[in-house]
Amino acid sequence: MNFDEEINRVGTHSVKWDAMEALYGVSPQDGLSMWVADMDFRPPACVQKAVEDMAAHGIYGYFGDDSAYLAAIQWWMKNRHGWDVDAEAIFTTHGLVNGTGLCVQAFSELGDGVVLMTPVYHAFARVISAAGRKVVECQLPVEDGRHVMDFAAWDDQMTGNERMLILCSPHNPGGQVWTAEELRGVADFAKRHDLIVISDEIHHDLVFAGHKHTVMPLAAPDIADRLVMMTATTKTFNIAGSHTGNVIIHDPVLRAKFAAVMGGLGISPNSFGLMMATAAYSPEGAEWLDALIAYLAENKRIFDEGVNAIPGLSSMNMEATYLAWVDFSGTGMTRDEFTARVEKDARIAANHGPSFGKGGESWMRFNLATPRVRVVEAVARLKAAFGDLQ
Ligand SMILES: Cc1ncc(COP(=O)(O)O)c(C=O)c1O
Repeated sequence: MNFDEEINRVGTHSVKWDAMEALYGVSPQDGLSMWVADMDFRPPACVQKAVEDMAAHGIYGYFGDDSAYLAAIQWWMKNRHGWDVDAEAIFTTHGLVNGTGLCVQAFSELGDGVVLMTPVYHAFARVISAAGRKVVECQLPVEDGRHVMDFAAWDDQMTGNERMLILCSPHNPGGQVWTAEELRGVADFAKRHDLIVISDEIHHDLVFAGHKHTVMPLAAPDIADRLVMMTATTKTFNIAGSHTGNVIIHDPVLRAKFAAVMGGLGISPNSFGLMMATAAYSPEGAEWLDALIAYLAENKRIFDEGVNAIPGLSSMNMEATYLAWVDFSGTGMTRDEFTARVEKDARIAANHGPSFGKGGESWMRFNLATPRVRVVEAVARLKAAFGDLQ
């Protein structure tokens, strides 16, 4: 594993590099791509080998016998998260945006409200709206530089029309590792308002030293009858193109509803995704992941130190993920002004804050999962672009 290696992804059908110019006006020739959440690193060698073995065999028929895949998930969840997963509780979807859409179909009706804690991963709102449900934005205040939950304010927002809450744990953007107490607060909130909780834990392996992620079933066993878990190997091991995720449901009533929707759509797994995930959830994958987290921690340190030294800019302290969340409100500039400086002057493609919902207005999100030289370069470019504020 050599995370410093700069691998050219331009012209490889990479959305991160090949769509940056169309989306942000930043050319991949001299620009830095720091938007969508995939990494510029190769996955662990065991994952690469799984793909090579399949290619060498050369027959790409339907997948059968997912026992090794299910066992790998069970092993990983027990070893990394202390969580016992029943094999029959696992549904394999085409990623977790797909999983979210299936949950929305299974557990709510047209016109129902779905609660989001914003600013949050933008695809949630897109899927909810596309399905004809109502996005209910409960804003996360920032206190002492950290997103916090405000249940008292959110209680007042509830109308009785809400059916589900999608929790992002750890949180994207901002990178909060919700404490067990915060998660219990979510569970109590869900009980008060009779909500099904979808806990999207796609980032739960990318946690920095000093923070402890608790999977929702362990934080709040009392909501087992209203809890749906979503996990995946894709963020952890940078295999998002395999579009494979897991929706894990222990409650039999919820499970039957979900199975009916999935069955009705004829969804069955992609063989490459399952083989890659099986290879990743292994001792070799775990060793690679530990090295990755140490590398990302240093990228984060360099980025935060550099950005926080620029007057008017403030990077939230990430406890997990590689998605830095930077507030530009201190510059006194309009959104168009600071965005133009990032895109036109610094030539960096980064996600625009408003796409994450209420609370994102003055922010931008920067993906730090890239070789360190690029993070150092990004900091230098931002310093130059906002140099007049020194
Ligand atoms: C919280 C969250 N959920 C889901 C996804 C995407 O999931 P998938 O690629 O499995 O559809 C992302 C991608 O950034 C994410 O941040």
